[in-house]
Amino acid sequence: MKKPFAPSCERNSGPIHNVLSNYLGDKKRLLEVGSGTGQHAVYFASKFPHLTWITTDQPTYHQGIKMWLEEAKLPNLEGPLSFKLGEDSFPANNIDVVYTANTFHIMPWEMVEELISLAGANLLEGSLFIVYGPFTYNGEYTSKSNEEFHLNLRQMAPHQGIRDFKNVHEQFEKRGFKFQGDIAMPANNQILIYKK
Ligand SMILES: C[S@@+](CC[C@H](N)C(=O)[O-])C[C@H]1O[C@@H](n2cnc3c(N)ncnc32)[C@H](O)[C@@H]1O
Repeated sequence: MKKPFAPSCERNSGPIHNVLSNYLGDKKRLLEVGSGTGQHAVYFASKFPHLTWITTDQPTYHQGIKMWLEEAKLPNLEGPLSFKLGEDSFPANNIDVVYTANTFHIMPWEMVEELISLAGANLLEGSLFIVYGPFTYNGEYTSKSNEEFHLNLRQMAPHQGIRDFKNVHEQFEKRGFKFQGDIAMPANNQILIYKK
């Protein structure tokens, strides 16, 4: 198998790092949900050597993630652990950050709810939940390209689609998280930050 590569990760890693660096200074154990190729994990683990970056995903992604991790040989990079929402329980202890990128519009909405619920039940007090991806606001897209992206997602699988900020926000509040920020990112993406 060829090492998987996502051009989007090449483009967005730098801008995401700029935001994460304002929030991860005192954090110790980060769980990444839906690590995908493993590129973000390698990039951010090298930038934040003080914290342990734990990769997770569905088993079909593990081989690719392992290829990135084995090449990077970083002491603070762990996993991949199996974590498929709807099947697995929360996969690690003493986590003080959950980070997930481009997953809320891919997994079914019920699994987004499940993830926030599991994080609410398992994260340490004061932990952060950081989500990167596109959102709508009061049903409005932040760009024409996001609207087209949403329609493509729906065509590919009816359970997929860009989520509305209000619905996501409600789930976080319901599970005991407090809103910390919503940062506009390049290519019509956002970073949402919540604190338990
Ligand atoms: C578009 S990829 C994003 C990968 C990577 N985070 C990135 O930004 O490039 C979507 C990810 O969501 C994960 N995913 C989809 N459904 C999931 C579920 N039910 N539980 C856990 N992960 C899921 C996929 O396995 C995949 O890694």
